[in-house]
Amino acid sequence: MNDVRNAVREAYGEAIGNRTGKAGCDVTAITDMTKGNYTAEAVAGTPQDVVEQSFGCGNPVQAALLKPGERVLDLGSGAGLDLILASKAVGAVGHVYGLDMTPPMLNKARKNLDRLGIRNVTLLRGYIEEMPLHDRSVEVLISNCVINLSPDKDKVFAEAFRVLTPGGRFCVSDVVLMKPVPEKLKQSPAAWSG
Ligand SMILES: C[S@@+](CC[C@H](N)C(=O)[O-])C[C@H]1O[C@@H](n2cnc3c(N)ncnc32)[C@H](O)[C@@H]1O
Repeated sequence: MNDVRNAVREAYGEAIGNRTGKAGCDVTAITDMTKGNYTAEAVAGTPQDVVEQSFGCGNPVQAALLKPGERVLDLGSGAGLDLILASKAVGAVGHVYGLDMTPPMLNKARKNLDRLGIRNVTLLRGYIEEMPLHDRSVEVLISNCVINLSPDKDKVFAEAFRVLTPGGRFCVSDVVLMKPVPEKLKQSPAAWSG
């Protein structure tokens, strides 16, 4: 678990810093999945450089149909594009939490949120396998291309259902396997981060 976390943290720390990666991370593949996920309307008013800091593979905010006043948690919030979109949708009476384990991503998200004057978002440093929130504390969970990076997905889903209120929503964009991954690849921390 720690080897995978370290490899993923290093890969995404570098990727947000310079849009290139090491540690065996295939940043080309990551970057390709980030294109075309948001319509111009969805990101209207968001600075282009922030839109380009997305490392997701879809638009879970759109799927979540957020309402004013809702509390939302974004698992693996990265540089914060989905936090920004969610914060607008839930408004000043709602609240959005962004959870990530990579300090450079959290730093970038902090800068982006401050630059846009957004006040209804709290950034949390931690793991999606150990969410630092109380039971039943959010109505909506979103996640954009993060759960595939976790070696313990059962724990992520158990935590998701713990922090969600009864009847809450869980909207995920992610990659899924179409065939089994070879055992050798599963044992490679670097392969997990691509
Ligand atoms: C593919 S990027 C997606 C970032 C963001 N959701 C977006 O759409 O731009 C994956 C993010 O998840 C974070 N991450 C990966 N595994 C994590 C874990 N186990 N716990 C917390 N954060 C994690 C990484 O630090 C990175 O910021």
